[in-house]
Amino acid sequence: MTTWNLQGTTSHILICNGSSCKKHKGEEVAEAIEEEIEKQGAQSLIHTTVTRCNGRCSDACVVIAYPEGVWYKEITPKLAKSLVRKHLQGERLEENVVYTYDGQLVAASERGAKGKKKK
Ligand code: FES
Repeated sequence: MTTWNLQGTTSHILICNGSSCKKHKGEEVAEAIEEEIEKQGAQSLIHTTVTRCNGRCSDACVVIAYPEGVWYKEITPKLAKSLVRKHLQGERLEENVVYTYDGQLVAASERGAKGKKKK
């Protein structure tokens, strides 16, 4: 168990490690994100959390970045490193964006509008 002092954290990256995302290298994606954060010296800025299923299994491996609220699809270990670098520059990995956030999640393409409707 760990209790971090998270003061000064500017970003929170959630890395899905539900079963579908694990099948799509979710664990390796999490490792790549951690490695790149360390390489960039951004450990005090970016907090990460490995999660269970985020409900977008067809997008595996799913990564979500806050405070922007951007949902990414099909993140590979290589893309994960790029995602961290872009995130630190205030940019996005545009080709992999599924949802953006503007008071609510907004589909960035038709893909984000597909799936079961929540009641
Ligand atoms: S297992 Fe990752 S979204 Fe379902």
